[in-house]
Amino acid sequence: MKSGGKIVILGAGHVGSHCGMALAWRGICQEVVLVDKNEKKAAAQAMDISDALTFPPSAAVVRQGSYSDCADADIVVIAIGEPRLPGQTRLDLLESSARMLRELTETLKPIGIGGVVVTITNPADIAAYYVRRELDLPRERVFGTGTLLDTARLVKTISEKSGVFRGAISAFSMGEHGDSSMIPFSQVRIGALPLDSYPGLDKEYILERTRMTGMDIINGKDSTEFGIGQALTALCASILGDERQVFPLSVLLEGEYGQRDVNCGVPCVVGRNGIESIVELPLTSEEQAQLDASCDIIRRHIEKACN
Ligand code: LAC
Repeated sequence: MKSGGKIVILGAGHVGSHCGMALAWRGICQEVVLVDKNEKKAAAQAMDISDALTFPPSAAVVRQGSYSDCADADIVVIAIGEPRLPGQTRLDLLESSARMLRELTETLKPIGIGGVVVTITNPADIAAYYVRRELDLPRERVFGTGTLLDTARLVKTISEKSGVFRGAISAFSMGEHGDSSMIPFSQVRIGALPLDSYPGLDKEYILERTRMTGMDIINGKDSTEFGIGQALTALCASILGDERQVFPLSVLLEGEYGQRDVNCGVPCVVGRNGIESIVELPLTSEEQAQLDASCDIIRRHIEKACN
């Protein structure tokens, strides 16, 4: 893991500030800049994070900034949006997020972003689609965290049930970062063995935990933040360090998985240029139908909000 680079986070709410803390703490970059319409809050979050850096071995500078900071940032993270309330789906945030993203992209367009843009704002796939289209940048450089966090929840659940270390599990949640996400169970490997080698593992339970953990956290504390902070940090480390890790991200599909003109979570090789390539897993016909159904839901919402 190389250290270097400037990461700008747009939105200093729960998600943005925890992402800032996670990035700064891990020491993967030189500078973390927080930008928010509420400048006082962005400045306060930056000061608080900066205080924390007295203790771990990280020399990152954390400060409040402005939109013009995005021009020379290595990575711009979009974390604006209203928090999801208990009982709300991510798609329920469509209207307010569309309004806020319209305003934000109008501000960003004249700035000329030179780096990679990562969107976290929900609904994740629709937000990623819209931001890429409005900024008119290649899909490799503008994408969403998508099902990266769902995948963390998936790997955690398999690990708990199988008793195998998370790092020895290869599994992906794909499709919508939302209630229609799917898991290609045929591709899961636990210590190199297929899922069925572990007779105690219940696929329905694993899918339910992967989809519903986010809502359980929101029901308990009104927001999720630690998980996304670490997921984003791993993603940014792979970009800045050209690590070539494979993460599921919400990228514009151009024929991959038989889909076009839609963003959804698919495994991607992540390096210095952003998405270096898309990994096309050999799905079963049942899994392909599940992915298609999830893409149909995303597409319907794109049509509703982005046209
Ligand atoms: C979650 C939010 C980030 O799943 O959508 O925690």
